[in-house]
Amino acid sequence: MAGEDRRAARVALFPLPFQGHMSPMLQLAGALHARGLAVTVLHTAFNAPDPARRHPGFSFVAVPDAISDAVAATEGGGGLDRVLAMNAAVEAPALAEGVRAVLASMLRSGEPRLACLVIDATLTAVQKAAAGLGLPTLVLHTGSAACFRLFRSYDMLYDKGYLPAQESNLLLPVKELPPLQVRDLFDPSKLPNKEILMKILNLANETTASSSGAIINTFEALEPHELKMIRDELADKGIPVFAIGPLHKLSPADSAAAASILNQDRSCIEWLDTQAPRSVLYVSFGSVVHVTRHELAEVAWGLASSGKPFLWVVRGDLVLGVEKPSELLPEGFENAVKGRGKVVEWAPQQEVLAHPAVGGFWTHSGWNSTLESVYEGVPVLSTPRFGDQLATGRYVGDAWEIGVLLEGALEREKIQRAIATLMEEKEGMGIRERARSLKEKARMCLESGGPSHQAVDMLVNHIYSLSL
Ligand code: UDX
Repeated sequence: MAGEDRRAARVALFPLPFQGHMSPMLQLAGALHARGLAVTVLHTAFNAPDPARRHPGFSFVAVPDAISDAVAATEGGGGLDRVLAMNAAVEAPALAEGVRAVLASMLRSGEPRLACLVIDATLTAVQKAAAGLGLPTLVLHTGSAACFRLFRSYDMLYDKGYLPAQESNLLLPVKELPPLQVRDLFDPSKLPNKEILMKILNLANETTASSSGAIINTFEALEPHELKMIRDELADKGIPVFAIGPLHKLSPADSAAAASILNQDRSCIEWLDTQAPRSVLYVSFGSVVHVTRHELAEVAWGLASSGKPFLWVVRGDLVLGVEKPSELLPEGFENAVKGRGKVVEWAPQQEVLAHPAVGGFWTHSGWNSTLESVYEGVPVLSTPRFGDQLATGRYVGDAWEIGVLLEGALEREKIQRAIATLMEEKEGMGIRERARSLKEKARMCLESGGPSHQAVDMLVNHIYSLSL
């Protein structure tokens, strides 16, 4: 009977429609599909998965949304404004109603039976629509376990006076959440739209509390303490926690590749092939961070004066209001780097990080980028900008000690010094060694019988056990 059931279940998944959230959801879909579950991906028209790159084994169903309008209304705002607008737009009743209609039809059609809906943490309205049909939900948390804890701790942070942050307490350790300091907290009171952010954090708590399980894209050896604390907390509510990561390695390569929203420029791999082992600094600030014109110039001159070969992702919308930011690179820069730099709009990042020529990664410390770097043992230069990136940067620098955390304004001299520490100097030797040793731990977690591998088995069993 159990065997029959195992061949006959379907999972529906609904990611938040931006890169850092689509990727892990599609990778999770790949991992579940590889274990025999049928997969349907619900998606918005905004940032819809490209039909040419879609995973052939999954079904895709579009749900009507008004996200494009909400994002367009943030014109002139930064990446954070867009992220917040998107989160607010997915709470629209029309979207939840659209999801409800799709799920109801899937439940009616019956075969294979729909076992559950996996959602991004803030999709509370969608979760309620599923609950109305009696369909259980699992919540995928696309950030670290540390950030999962942090984002559930805002009441405490306000109660104990850590927030709102004051100039005088920025360096104060948050003793309940080591190794974080007050300056690593994403402080809602610094935002014009504080209420939206608090609402999003509360929604994430609500979906977790109402779910049948929490899935976190991390691995036991990376965040053992954080995972234990989360498990202790959620055990009271009967909510199991699955630490399944790094997801990009638990998923077959085709589902990982299917996740890129932008076209990846593969010419950089040929260029890397011509570079010496561990000589190149790879530079990318993910899919939503923006920099100012001034910062772009400081990054450029920092790279130029480092003397290191570099591969730099200058995304089409990296500088707000500028159509082609790569044309903004300062005069004299190209000459100064004399062919030792390559600039692309979007790279096949996982392949880049796996390339033997890459010796360092300058990142905004987005969680996917961090896990991809950890898995390849590439040490990190971290310049976090907002949200979970701030806490991840602190873990990179102070907990795992696999990178250099560059805080404050982006200035060419500071950048040059940080690159030298990371890639050349004795000071960085320990960092580079620890990055390599963490890579081994990540690989052990993924081996057959390793904790992440087992967590997928447990998750699959859990999904089969969920019944309407
Ligand atoms: C966002 C948030 O900023 C991040 O903090 C949060 O943890 C997830 O959501 P993003 O800023 O895009 O994500 O960063 P990140 O999580 O690092 O994801 C970027 C993804 O884009 C990575 O999987 C990376 O491999 C991919 N990428 C990046 C490319 O494929 N090519 C590139 O050139 C750059």
